[in-house]
Amino acid sequence: IEEPKTILVIFGATGDLAKRKLYPSIYNLYKKDMLSDNFAVVGLGRKPWTNEIIRENVQKSIQSEGNDEEKLNDFKDHFYYLPFDVTNKQSYHELDELLNQLDEQYQTEGNRIFYMAMAPEFFGTIASQLKSEGVTETKGYTRLVIEKPFGHNVSSAQQLNEEISAAFAEKDIYRIDHYLGKQMVQNIEVIRFGNAIFEPLWNNRYISNIQITSSETLGVEDRGGYYEKSGALRDMVQNHMLQMVALLAMDPPIKLDPDEIRSEKIKALRSIKNISTDEVQEHFVRGQYGPGLQNGNEVPGYLSENNIAPNSHTETFVAGKFMIENHRWVGVPFYIRTGKRMSVKSTKIIVQFKDLPMNIYYNKNKDELHPNLLTIHIQPDEGVSLVLNGKKQGPNGGSIPVQLDYNNNGESTVNTPEGYERLIYDCMKGDATNFTHWDEVELSWKLIDTISNAWEGNGNNLETYESGSMGPKGSDALLAKDGFKWWPIE
Ligand code: BG6
Repeated sequence: IEEPKTILVIFGATGDLAKRKLYPSIYNLYKKDMLSDNFAVVGLGRKPWTNEIIRENVQKSIQSEGNDEEKLNDFKDHFYYLPFDVTNKQSYHELDELLNQLDEQYQTEGNRIFYMAMAPEFFGTIASQLKSEGVTETKGYTRLVIEKPFGHNVSSAQQLNEEISAAFAEKDIYRIDHYLGKQMVQNIEVIRFGNAIFEPLWNNRYISNIQITSSETLGVEDRGGYYEKSGALRDMVQNHMLQMVALLAMDPPIKLDPDEIRSEKIKALRSIKNISTDEVQEHFVRGQYGPGLQNGNEVPGYLSENNIAPNSHTETFVAGKFMIENHRWVGVPFYIRTGKRMSVKSTKIIVQFKDLPMNIYYNKNKDELHPNLLTIHIQPDEGVSLVLNGKKQGPNGGSIPVQLDYNNNGESTVNTPEGYERLIYDCMKGDATNFTHWDEVELSWKLIDTISNAWEGNGNNLETYESGSMGPKGSDALLAKDGFKWWPIE
């Protein structure tokens, strides 16, 4: 494959995302020789930085990775900085001029990627001015990479989409969901569609329920301003959790082509049952962390964190049940739960298979067959495990659950900052498979709006849970009502 030739323009180059994720990821690509020398990065921001300052910052953000000095020096010389005012046309003209000059210098064939790594209120303005001021007129490709939040509800998302679609075609819009860059999230499809033993069972005849957990130990940290308006539902469920549901529920695509895969995911999202306000109260639980003990340390509750309203009703935890109404899935609950300040940092998918029609091992020792469980370990460990029943040692026979484990230690997670590296590379190659299509975003928001509207009408149904726990009691009750329980993920 030919290495990508492109100029990457980062809006928000002095910010946290650029420093923590983007610079290290681009460097990793460079280090692995996946980038040719035909690339440049232009950082934009309000701060009066210079090329020298951005280069120092790039170096600082990468140094901890223990890198070869010479390579790092060559790398950072590809960086440029332009002080930028997103509302001022003059800034766009200066940018265009710089891009034309770098295009010649680095022979990037007019290819430009615009990466929005800043406050979302400017996404629309930037996209439309890039077009109106001619920055998107080149002989190569122009792509837009856009970070979340993609709107705040369905109408704001539609409005944002209209604004960016006026300047970029859908095929050139790369909406980031960093979960789609995770190795094991990408592996869901391979496990399902590359193995003869799972796909025949992957339906409501053999699966009883699916449990997706993404728990975090961190609290809201310094993101109170953003999080108060978002909460766990918009922050995690609208995007990451529903994307995992779609990948688990979709039908096999006819081939590995971005459009085919995305259209199957869209169909799966479309099949999720739209529920009524009453059903929201029954199927969804919201919680907020109180103080508690985490890893032996006392931590404050959400209400005492910085920039949080003292009577805030923002949820930091959601558990819920999505029902998919199609032939494959009707009757199988897809449970999701996600929250901050929980007992572990972990993302796991557990597929619980149905019980056999009868258990011949049920004997006087009260041996019960354990359900077969397939666990996809997304993070921090990456792998797959399968719980089966085996023979119990000893004269009385009986059965005992045994676990087969596959641990995917192939790729060090240190070198793949949360999938950004893969996603940036995909965008440079023009592969949109692991980015969310507008239809997916819109369908997800419709589901989320139903839930949040129902909650708004009933502000007090927020349960407090202790920091360091696995969430409020209602989360366990949600599964217990259906005769299930959350399988441990620790
Ligand atoms: C982000 C959310 O999208 O995902 C954060 O905004 C959350 O609140 C993060 O902490 C979790 O990502 P990961 O990769 O650490 O599971």
